[in-house]
Amino acid sequence: MNKIFSFIFLLTAFMASQGHAQRKAIEQRVDSVMKLMTLPEKIGQLNQYSGREVTGPSSDRKNYLLNDIKNGMVGSMLNVKGVKDTREIQAIALQSRLKIPLLFSLDVIHGYKTVFPIPLAESASWDLSIIRKSAEVAAEESAASGIHWTFAPMVDIARDPRWGRVMEGAGEDTYLGSQIARARVLGFQGDKLGSVDRIMACAKHFAAYGASMAGRDYNPVDMSRQQLHEIYLPPFKAATDAGVATFMNSFNTLNGIPATGNSYLQRDILKKQWNYKGFVVSDWASIKEMTPWGFAKNLSEAAEKAIIAGSDMDMESEAYKKELEKLVNNGKVDVKIIDEAVKRILYKKFELGLFDNPYRFSDEKREQKVMNDPKYKEVAKSAAQRSIVLLKNANNTLPLSKATNNIALIGPLVNAKRDQAGSWVVYADTANMVSVYEGVKQKVKAAKLNVVEGTAITDTSTAGFKDAVNAAKNADAVVMVLGENWDMSGEAKSRTDISLPGKQEELFNAVKATGKPVIVVLMAGRPLVFNSIVEEADAIVYAWFLGDQGGNAIADVLFGDYNPSGKLPISFPRNVGQIPIFYNFYNTGRPVTKPTDIRYKSAYIDAPNDPQYAFGHGLSYTTFSYSDLKLSSTNPQKNENVKVSFKLTNTGKVIGEEVAQLYMQDTFASVVRPVKELKDFAKVTLKPGESKEITFELTPEKLSFYHEEKGWMIEPGEFRLMIGTASNDIKLKTSFELK
Ligand code: NOJ
Repeated sequence: MNKIFSFIFLLTAFMASQGHAQRKAIEQRVDSVMKLMTLPEKIGQLNQYSGREVTGPSSDRKNYLLNDIKNGMVGSMLNVKGVKDTREIQAIALQSRLKIPLLFSLDVIHGYKTVFPIPLAESASWDLSIIRKSAEVAAEESAASGIHWTFAPMVDIARDPRWGRVMEGAGEDTYLGSQIARARVLGFQGDKLGSVDRIMACAKHFAAYGASMAGRDYNPVDMSRQQLHEIYLPPFKAATDAGVATFMNSFNTLNGIPATGNSYLQRDILKKQWNYKGFVVSDWASIKEMTPWGFAKNLSEAAEKAIIAGSDMDMESEAYKKELEKLVNNGKVDVKIIDEAVKRILYKKFELGLFDNPYRFSDEKREQKVMNDPKYKEVAKSAAQRSIVLLKNANNTLPLSKATNNIALIGPLVNAKRDQAGSWVVYADTANMVSVYEGVKQKVKAAKLNVVEGTAITDTSTAGFKDAVNAAKNADAVVMVLGENWDMSGEAKSRTDISLPGKQEELFNAVKATGKPVIVVLMAGRPLVFNSIVEEADAIVYAWFLGDQGGNAIADVLFGDYNPSGKLPISFPRNVGQIPIFYNFYNTGRPVTKPTDIRYKSAYIDAPNDPQYAFGHGLSYTTFSYSDLKLSSTNPQKNENVKVSFKLTNTGKVIGEEVAQLYMQDTFASVVRPVKELKDFAKVTLKPGESKEITFELTPEKLSFYHEEKGWMIEPGEFRLMIGTASNDIKLKTSFELK
């Protein structure tokens, strides 16, 4: 055993020294380039333009941008894609005096050519391997198209479904969000940057953008340091630990200081405390926007504040390009700050191998081969299946028999293709998405399908209701496909009303009035409010926007070829008034202990406190039992890991996957603690009758909390543990006393 340990020790030491040597070698190459650079050339590396106009028809702006590229005044372009265009633009950069290659970047958020489920949907899979795999495919495809760098993953915790960008993240939970951040970074980048089929990732938006006030995009954020450190920063830290190459700052202020001009975030936490070596890009024009915020009088002051605060690259403000040289010359900005930012960027260009071959990623043959690889469709289908959440299944309405003869497919999203792709689609052909109609048709070829849209998504007319009702009356099974359109979530798509748009809920009521069992499939980029459907539908399938293979994955679930396994990564409110709503709330001094007694309790007089569907909720076609709980110690030391294990059994009739969830509560502490916090989970596949022992481990880190003055700390005392199938459905409980 000792020999094995010494071998592992030596191997780790050897690898660390190799890593160190490689780092030194790149640093030397960076220094050798730095020595040749003039101040304007250095500033050029900090400048990023969008390339839409560069590849389009000739214009003044186009000539202006091309000139800047030729003169070495640009370090990176976003929105230039494809081998042809990236080659062409790179060739222009190589005409500059020092021939420093450009970095090509793009918002590859949930797939490139192959569209994967929107990130929130994929997070509902709680399946880290499929999440990593989908990022890998997105990287393979975009890298083959000349892209070096994606602006993903968005790791903002979001507890407000009014915010349109909730679709882009991993939901409300810090632990789940951190695991997913890690999986996505590793998927995009691989274990080590520099492979030709992987791209740089970018953890965004630093920081706390998901807490934009009132769910309105670009709004301020005010929060305690404790909330910031405990809830919002850990996914960024997880991305850093996974080696994320870049960060993007954000549009919001944090406690009065714009994130872009925020030294506490970018210098103190990121670059000092976390010792982060990558670079920070601003969000689109966020440097310039510090002026309308009232934080910088003009572009010059904005540039000064941003660079001093640690924003290394300027996306589309032209603030650095226009102002930094003057700021150095008049002594307001130390050139050392600029040098540091330039070095961070050049380092990444070396790591990607661009100095050795600037066209490394732009290979036409590879582009053609990779872009049409059918095996990616299989990954997209698997991701889509796993992202679906079965919210309700009264009387085992689902799955449907494949022998069903006559099926009514009703609702405005039955034929949806573009909508299934969701927001942030930059390359894919959205006409190729598989609709629910196509998926069902393919699945039950002999059945008669009667398709009636009934109403449009945002329509005010009920003229189509009659046909829908008739179709339902004559059907053996009724499936309704309702929801938002793709453009109702995403950036700048906040809503104050998150109920089903248009007349869709009325359409449902009319169809349900036929007395037929009704199965509802809901598509959306966020949690919606759909109260009468919750009450009256016989089954509810939450299908988000599932991408390429949406219709096939939904048909697999409807007809039992895939047993749903998704769990909600975000709470679903009963109404907008409950927002923000999340499972890890505080007890308060006046908790509601009996729902019937709410007098002078922390409650609403017109609605319960709990959500419509809780974080972690999601049903299956089989059943699971939890038993045989064991704890490694009931009285552990402060620095000891505590193991908790139990037996999970599939007690139903079909194979299924369960996401077992471990929650913890630190009962008394010098900072009040939430009623429960997710600390671990496992997604396990079990055949009927099969059991598996599952072990979760609580490290000291998981027991700690953030104190405003003292930082991270652990206190002795009681810790309660809860293991369950959802945050509101706990199956096993125990506790231990930390010494
Ligand atoms: C603004 C968005 O906030 C950011 O997430 C995105 O990466 C940039 N635009 C670039 O498109």
